[in-house]
Amino acid sequence: MKILVTGGAGYIGSHTIIDIIENTNHEVISIDNFSNSNEDTFDRIEKITGKRVKNYNLDLTAYKSLKEKFFDVEKDIDGIIHFAALKAVGESVEKPVLYYHNNLNSLINLLKCVQKYSVKHFIFSSSCTVYGNVLKQPVTEESPTQNAESPYGYTKLVGENILKDFSLSISEFNAISLRYFNPVGAHISGQNGELPTGRPNNLVPVVTQFASGWINELTVHGDDYGTRDGTAIRDYIHVSDIAHAHVLALEYLSKSFGELRYDVFNLGTGIGVTVFEVFEAFEKSAGLKLDYNIGPRRSGDVECIYADNKKARTKLKWMPKYTIEDAMKTAWIWQQELNLIRDDMVRPE
Ligand code: NAD
Ligand code: WQD
Repeated sequence: MKILVTGGAGYIGSHTIIDIIENTNHEVISIDNFSNSNEDTFDRIEKITGKRVKNYNLDLTAYKSLKEKFFDVEKDIDGIIHFAALKAVGESVEKPVLYYHNNLNSLINLLKCVQKYSVKHFIFSSSCTVYGNVLKQPVTEESPTQNAESPYGYTKLVGENILKDFSLSISEFNAISLRYFNPVGAHISGQNGELPTGRPNNLVPVVTQFASGWINELTVHGDDYGTRDGTAIRDYIHVSDIAHAHVLALEYLSKSFGELRYDVFNLGTGIGVTVFEVFEAFEKSAGLKLDYNIGPRRSGDVECIYADNKKARTKLKWMPKYTIEDAMKTAWIWQQELNLIRDDMVRPE
């Protein structure tokens, strides 16, 4: 198949391109405007796989150029994996219109092109954020979705609905939304990982940057939750496991063409891990001690969420293989790489 990956220069998109190259014969092309990444990603992909991936530097929110500069040129796209989005939860609260514009118009423009150019398959990057604060754990795909806490989260909820309505409205097309839990870690080679822009908010980059001296404080956001050690529980899933699920999802879409119109899958390990357990895994992997402090709960955080991943295991034949220790180890190796390649760049703090 000829596959368009949007956001191919980003964290999950780049790992997925690597998996596609390593495990399939699909042709892969990227669209990324580098709003949260840069061209070096394609050098890293080439170093790991030996293949140079073509990227079109286009803004997906601009329909005319998307059509004329991409779809009129790259004929016969069979499938789209749509990662491109803005993803900073806090920023989305400050700049809601930017998030609604970028994330929703990108999706809508792609779907217009799907219709016009007869693309057959579509995979949408969704998030466990669509479940909000659910009491009953683990969450299944049947757990109710809730009105999102942030404009970012809302773009995922609305994005899923747009895709579902679209899928049911046209034939010769099928689509899947993948709800990622907490993607972490880096490629097993340590040569590709998440690129930090500004001060990170997510736990794993905070830990690795703190351990490297890029940031001065490591704060636990609350140790008074009703969990086994008082800190919040999440389902940290290795980015390469997430990446591989997209390859399997493409296979599933292709096999079920004509039968399945739309479906949704959780992508998590099924294991809930506390903040302190993440620290322990890091300390074990890096051989370092973390000197943290305890702060108040972070506004909008839920106490506990982890996935029931049975549906993805059964239908997609997906089996996550990396542990939290693997994730911390690879994230730490990647951080060493960042220490070198970003030496001449302005550090977050
Ligand atoms: P990322 O920021 O690393 O990658 C997204 C890429 O999309 C970036 O390279 C960016 O330059 C590009 N992009 C954004 N808007 C664009 C536009 N209008 N036109 C062209 N390119 C554009 O993010 P990621 O962590 O790889 O996330 C990928 C997807 O997964 C996103 O949709 C995100 O919302 C979703 N997701 C991420 C997480 C996470 O924790 N990383 C969790 C759940 C869901
Ligand atoms: C994990 C845990 C924090 C930083 C976010 C998005 C979600 C999804 C994944 C995209 C929480 C605690 C964190 C720190 C801490 N992304 N923490 N100190 O909040 O589960 O999910 O990323 O769809 O939409 O909201 O991830 O990594 O920020 O936090 O104690 O310095 O670590 O309170 O319990 P979160 P996270």
